[in-house]
Amino acid sequence: MTSALFVSHTGEKGGAELFLTDIVKAGPQSWRACFLSGGAAVQDLAASGRPPVMLSAGEKMLSIRRDSSVGVLLRGAADVMAVAWQLSRRAKDYDVICANSQKALFVCALAAKLSGRPLVWILHDIVTDPAFSAVNRRASLAFARLFAKLVAVNSGETGRAFIEAGGEAEKVRIVYNGFDPARGELHDPGKAARLRAELGLGPAPLIGLFGRLSEWKGQHVFLEAVAAMEGVQAIIVGGALFGQEEYEASIRRQASRLGLDDRVRFLGFRSDVPELMAATDVVAHTSIVAEPFGRVVVEAMMCGRPVVATSGGGVTEIIRDGETGLLVPPGNAAALAAALGCILSHPALAQRLAQAGREDVSRRFSLEETCRAVSVLLSEAA
Ligand code: UDP
Ligand code: GLC
Repeated sequence: MTSALFVSHTGEKGGAELFLTDIVKAGPQSWRACFLSGGAAVQDLAASGRPPVMLSAGEKMLSIRRDSSVGVLLRGAADVMAVAWQLSRRAKDYDVICANSQKALFVCALAAKLSGRPLVWILHDIVTDPAFSAVNRRASLAFARLFAKLVAVNSGETGRAFIEAGGEAEKVRIVYNGFDPARGELHDPGKAARLRAELGLGPAPLIGLFGRLSEWKGQHVFLEAVAAMEGVQAIIVGGALFGQEEYEASIRRQASRLGLDDRVRFLGFRSDVPELMAATDVVAHTSIVAEPFGRVVVEAMMCGRPVVATSGGGVTEIIRDGETGLLVPPGNAAALAAALGCILSHPALAQRLAQAGREDVSRRFSLEETCRAVSVLLSEAA
């Protein structure tokens, strides 16, 4: 079995880090996570007997954002070199180094050179997204070209964008996120009613929106849609990770302005997402730009819930519109409200979409299959 060190710049629980923790927990002992800063994923792995390697990236490196200028990137360079040196010493114990984020790519590339280990970049982002500054995109593509042996992408669309931006097609391999199909057992009307009561929710139909609070995830579009619907209540589940506190404040103000304080609950970051999903009548996904993959979409489908999601990116590879869920155009609150309303007022349709969706994603996105795909990738890279 090829051993590997999977490196993320953050231990916060974003989707990319959840992908990493899931495969490390389910994979062989020779796979280990490494984080360059702390967060909830660190405790989670430690509690399951797979403590990650912790290295410390400096503040300047961590302050690099997807839209960073040349100056910020250069100021981060010294930090990158310092942590790359530490990483190269740890990397010698593994056959392959995997960079699980763009920031980690810069560090891992240097560490791979210093340690003589092959590098795999696990790309979780659509690099043509205008939110990435041109310099950031060019730098990561150049590093991938020069240092990465293979590039694992989380969807066909992520791969297509990488190639369109100038990435080498022959390095690309698709590795979808995978999930434990036991989530499918969670939908139990009795438990759902108890959880709703605990949360102080009323009997009205419940719509759930799950994901970190960030403008591109479109929580503001969701609020507009809920405001246009009558007799429904909603939960917004997720924290303002990665410096999005201002956006959180703005959507809370928006909810009050729209008179939604009694109908919409902000639950913050939760570790019982599957249970909460199972307690809803329908789950929405509202990203306003192409979602690279969309874990929350698969998770909701696995929990047997009907899903309305915005089309584009990996979501279009997950949902077959009208068969396993409904797709709506991004940023269109009226279309979102209409699709959610249609599901709530047609229980037979809701049931058909939920059942077909659950069967389809349980077959296509199992954690077992993802671990198998990662093993194949690692042996090819080694
Ligand atoms: N999530 C969570 N708690 C929350 C909100 C989200 O654990 O309060 C998880 C969610 O279950 C999913 C991940 O965060 O596994 C988000 O991944 P996704 O791919 O949907 O979006 P990302 O944040 O990676 O862009
Ligand atoms: C990124 C993407 C998300 C994807 C996740 C796991 O965070 O934004 O769409 O599901 O990685 O691959």
